[in-house]
Amino acid sequence: MLRKSAVFAALAAASVANAQGEYLGFNYGASKANFGPVKVYEDFKEEFLIAQNLTGTEYKFTSARLYTMIQGPSKDDPISAIKAAIDTNTTLLLGMWCSAGQDIVTNEINAVLKAINLYGSRFTNLVVGLSVGSEDLYRSSEMGIQNESGIGAQPAELVKYIGQVRRALAGTPLKSVPIGHVDTWTVWVNGSNSAVVDALDWIGFDAYPYFQNTMSNTIDQAPQLFWEAYENTIKATGKEVWITETGWPVQGKNMNLAKANSKDAKQYWDQIGCAIFGKYKTWWYMLRDADPVAPETEFGIVGADLKPYYDLSCKNAKPVARPLSTSTAASSTARPSSTGASSRTIGSNSAPGTFAVETTAPTSTGAPAGAPAGAAQTTGSNNTPSSAFSIRVTVGLVAANAIAIAFLLL
Ligand SMILES: *[C@@H]1O[C@H](CO)[C@@H](O)[C@H](O)[C@H]1NC(C)=O
Ligand SMILES: *[C@@H]1O[C@H](CO)[C@@H](O)[C@H](O)[C@H]1NC(C)=O
Ligand SMILES: *[C@@H]1O[C@H](CO)[C@@H](O)[C@H](O)[C@H]1NC(C)=O
Ligand SMILES: *[C@@H]1O[C@H](CO)[C@@H](O)[C@H](O)[C@H]1NC(C)=O
Repeated sequence: MLRKSAVFAALAAASVANAQGEYLGFNYGASKANFGPVKVYEDFKEEFLIAQNLTGTEYKFTSARLYTMIQGPSKDDPISAIKAAIDTNTTLLLGMWCSAGQDIVTNEINAVLKAINLYGSRFTNLVVGLSVGSEDLYRSSEMGIQNESGIGAQPAELVKYIGQVRRALAGTPLKSVPIGHVDTWTVWVNGSNSAVVDALDWIGFDAYPYFQNTMSNTIDQAPQLFWEAYENTIKATGKEVWITETGWPVQGKNMNLAKANSKDAKQYWDQIGCAIFGKYKTWWYMLRDADPVAPETEFGIVGADLKPYYDLSCKNAKPVARPLSTSTAASSTARPSSTGASSRTIGSNSAPGTFAVETTAPTSTGAPAGAPAGAAQTTGSNNTPSSAFSIRVTVGLVAANAIAIAFLLL
């Protein structure tokens, strides 16, 4: 039976499909260098401008994904990235740290409410989505625990937090912001996490063929690994999938058959980046490592001198598109969700976004820049995919406070 809302959803889905590539940018951690100071307004502004002004690329990187809404070391003041985004016309994929317990989540929510009051539509017009958590389910999974990736959160906790966020935003200008959760693709193909999927408007997809060290993962095989993971995530979730993290390091250890160097990083940029930029919502990992001078694994595309490590142009690239057999539905094959969330997603999707930019956090030891000390230990201790995932996760924590850091140290 086709209800009116279903018709609307179908029509809206079509327009969403056309708009899939509207947001392009980077991930931005909340602190400078591992264990380094938290970023302030000038730091975010500088990074957002660098991203918009990259030499060589034909694309505009004008969206920023954040890992926390809190400006460290405050309790719940809005992160200064928001003001920097307003001043640079950078769209925002908001993020909340959700692996440090209810009190921190409450502070995250309060920080968003404060930002709405403080900046009004100058802020809310830039918001393209909000992620409740980042790789929390990966960290609490068998693989994450094996890899000592740090404290995560259980599906039931995330579902609770997602409900809290929806209720808190209900009476605000962000009432229809699409709510998602960012996690590794391995999480999305795990049926035990379906309660989280059901609660979401969109799925944040993190994929790093470089870290897939239990599989054959040469740089030449990377596109296949990426698209398989993407396809399986869509099939398993039936929701719109946003590419929230992917990238290839210019420096770092060998991961099974994957090697970290600028030649392979450029190949990944050419084959995957040039295939998804402008076609899929994308937040690349990342613009600049927290400590560009001595990172253990460096994902940055620019070094300390702000010059790209390799030619960012897609002109001579040979992008590897999503396999034809499955690509017709595109990433917006949003199945009607059991919670009715999809219509909310779709309705809000066309609204806020007009452009996108990105940000990321640097790292010095392989842990995300500004990541708490505990995170660095974790990430430094192994090169497995899970640890790498946790590295990125902790980037967000950086912004967080002492309590969150204490949790990481556990
Ligand atoms: C972009 O780079 C040019 C040349 O270096 C500089 O003049 C300009 O101010 C930069 N723009 C931004 C927005 O940073
Ligand atoms: C699947 O997800 C559940 C719930 O998040 C988790 O406990 C479990 O470890 C996951 N399984 C694997 C193989 O990662
Ligand atoms: C992390 O998990 C992956 C997958 O289970 C495994 O291959 C790898 O050995 C683990 N790393 C560590 C340090 O346990
Ligand atoms: C901000 O960016 C959007 C999308 O690119 C553009 O339409 C708009 O004119 C920009 N606003 C300003 C003030 O530059």
